[in-house]
Amino acid sequence: MSENRASSMAPKRTTDNARESGFQRCILPACGATFSLRERIYVCARCGGPLEIECDFSRVPEAHSLPAVWRSREASGEPRDRSGVWRFRELLPFDDAAPVVTLFEGNTPVYDAPRCADYAGLASLRLKHQGCNPTGSFKDTGMTACVTQAVALKARTTVCASTGNTAASLAAYSARAGMQCAILLPRGQITASKLAQSMDYGAIVLEIDGNFDDCMRLIGELGSDPSVYVANSINPFRIEGQKTVAFELMEQCNWHVPDHVVVPGGNMGNSSALGKGFAELLRLGLISRLPRLSVIQAEGAAPLAKLFVQLDRSRVASAADLPDSLATVSSPQTLATAIKIGAPVSWRKALRAVLDSGGEIITASEQEIADAKATIGRDGIGCEPASATTVAGIRKLVAAGRIRESESVVAVLTGHVLKDPDYVSHYHRGTLAPPAADKTGAYAAQPIAGAFRNSPEHIAASKSAILDRLRRKS
Ligand code: F0G
Repeated sequence: MSENRASSMAPKRTTDNARESGFQRCILPACGATFSLRERIYVCARCGGPLEIECDFSRVPEAHSLPAVWRSREASGEPRDRSGVWRFRELLPFDDAAPVVTLFEGNTPVYDAPRCADYAGLASLRLKHQGCNPTGSFKDTGMTACVTQAVALKARTTVCASTGNTAASLAAYSARAGMQCAILLPRGQITASKLAQSMDYGAIVLEIDGNFDDCMRLIGELGSDPSVYVANSINPFRIEGQKTVAFELMEQCNWHVPDHVVVPGGNMGNSSALGKGFAELLRLGLISRLPRLSVIQAEGAAPLAKLFVQLDRSRVASAADLPDSLATVSSPQTLATAIKIGAPVSWRKALRAVLDSGGEIITASEQEIADAKATIGRDGIGCEPASATTVAGIRKLVAAGRIRESESVVAVLTGHVLKDPDYVSHYHRGTLAPPAADKTGAYAAQPIAGAFRNSPEHIAASKSAILDRLRRKS
């Protein structure tokens, strides 16, 4: 192991990792230990703090020439050029010759969403749909990098804890690499579609009695065993892949920085990764300011939003002033199962990214999430419930004057609508019953009346009955 006492601002590199395309570093300012990219660790080996990768940008000769190089690769047939992650390889911590494990992830669309804009009180709103990735969620952009690293380290088995999407993605990429994959799931709390994907991709599916946070704790213990490679977003290589979404988004915005980028928050890997991506573009001079990065959590699973409300921002001048612990939620509750998480592992990185950019961390209720999801559907787009926290949250931020009507806003949708068809069906039939807390704090299912219900209608099998029905407006 190689480490030193370099500060987080000006890390010194050790001789061991000097030839590599970057190094791993503990983000805690009091530690700042650095490690070679080849060290199979997921937290700082000195203090247990979170790790991030510092890429060696001295290898990038002319940052301003990169956008043209990246754009030109879209016309190439080379597998790395066809991937919306590896297209940006100059800013990734891998050797040029590294064999990559890819399903041609990324290159996802940005849509104008006029009905969502109207609903949220904005002049316009754009949706970047990460659900259009090969396994239907944003996890694929991280997993291509993570499994590529697993192969480089000659790992035997990949493992992860998951609320479903990480599992589906890891199972698929491990299958591409011909590696054994084991996933740890909270029994009965994963949608049927996500579970089916993992089974289909040949993973060993292990269900435990407990919630996602219990699975994550077990992964923490398993990570010390050399036979397994942990693919949760605690692994900094995952974040490296996911940060490319910021690059791709800026390219799609013609390098005009949006005022706000809004994402859902669960384990906080996505927000950490986007924050890192934008910060790197700023450092390289490819953008001149950061978009305000805001994170929306479901009300019943919102430990970071709770901490954020209590935070005195004027007292957080640098990373050293960040709180050193998070009060976790022991029994998180939400029908947006993807983000049913009470102890997010990457909360520090996400909080830093939000504060650095001047963003917000707020909550959305079950009703707000459900109605926002149906509104996204009315724009012809569709997403899974967790993704809809974004539009619900934007509406609240506009109402609170935190986002102005004329500002440019991008919401990142994280999962495909078919990830949770039961939720959609229940909403439109009027049988969606999210958990609601009573006066004692106990949770029970409480049906909600969706504002945009659209249930199937029974009709006589005749032309006139159908035309009669169509003459009515809705
Ligand atoms: N949206 C979807 C669709 C997700 O699957 C997740 C996380 C998130 C948002 C939250 O992202 O964790 O990076 O803050 N899903 C993980 C999983 C936890 O296991 O699939 P985050």
